[in-house]
Amino acid sequence: MRTGVNREDPAPRAQPVIKWAGGKRQLIDRYREFFPARFNAYHEPFLGGGAVFFHLIPPVSFLSDSNEELINMYLVIQNKVDQLIEDLSRHKNDRDYYYQIRSLDVRTLTDVQRASRLIYLNKTCYNGLYRVNRRGEFNVPFGKYKRPRFLDVDSLLAANRVLQRAVLMAGDFEMVLENARPGDFVYLDPPYYPVSRTSGFTDFTDRSFSAKDHERLSRTFDELAGRGCLVMLSNSDTPFVRELYAGYRRGIISLTANRPINSRADKRGPVGELIVCSWIK
Ligand SMILES: C[S@@+](CC[C@H](N)C(=O)[O-])C[C@H]1O[C@@H](n2cnc3c(N)ncnc32)[C@H](O)[C@@H]1O
Repeated sequence: MRTGVNREDPAPRAQPVIKWAGGKRQLIDRYREFFPARFNAYHEPFLGGGAVFFHLIPPVSFLSDSNEELINMYLVIQNKVDQLIEDLSRHKNDRDYYYQIRSLDVRTLTDVQRASRLIYLNKTCYNGLYRVNRRGEFNVPFGKYKRPRFLDVDSLLAANRVLQRAVLMAGDFEMVLENARPGDFVYLDPPYYPVSRTSGFTDFTDRSFSAKDHERLSRTFDELAGRGCLVMLSNSDTPFVRELYAGYRRGIISLTANRPINSRADKRGPVGELIVCSWIK
């Protein structure tokens, strides 16, 4: 029998180690009141920067993402943090060096070197984003920051501590169906359904998240809710998304957030945003 979460427990302070597009770090205060007070295991199959995981720090977690570089980074933080710190300490904040690291073929690197490269690029690139082209190559330009913090030992050690209690996997979100049990909390934060044709943001991996994927996700939501999981989803506030979750009418809560994901000023602005909570009836 798994134990319930008591959020009064003192927990080691840990925070997201990388900045991630669509990251929920700035929204935690808005989300906090909606998280269930008690649950068994925690599942986050669109992990990204893991803002919700690092906020909740649950005793038992299943964390996954389709981005293999990202999951490799968390596995290295979990299991080889000392080697990672050593490797990160070799990096330099220099334009030519940045492009040299960016051009490396990850297939020729060790797991520690890949994790170190991802953190270094995330902290030194323009706008701190992870973006790849169609060939899966990281393509963000150098960020010209004065003192980027690519080696943050305290943050890595704190993440290492809390990740000891997590199971990490790379793969599609439907994997969550294999492990989630009644009473578990599942937080779903997919790439958002685009508000308009031009605002689509699907550069997290080399594959995009289509309308069909959103439909598949809503069926996964239904199946999890039907088996007694506490399921929470974040998405854009659009008629398409509202229609997909129409069966949870009372559980659909609209939030509005100012999320500077895009560097182009004309595409910033408030994005209508909602959450769906399966247990609010
Ligand atoms: C909005 S981000 C999650 C942000 C995260 N909540 C945070 O606070 O940083 C969406 C994530 O979904 C991942 N993703 C895209 N398609 C996926 C799929 N089919 N299955 C699992 N993860 C997927 C992306 O790699 C990305 O990390």
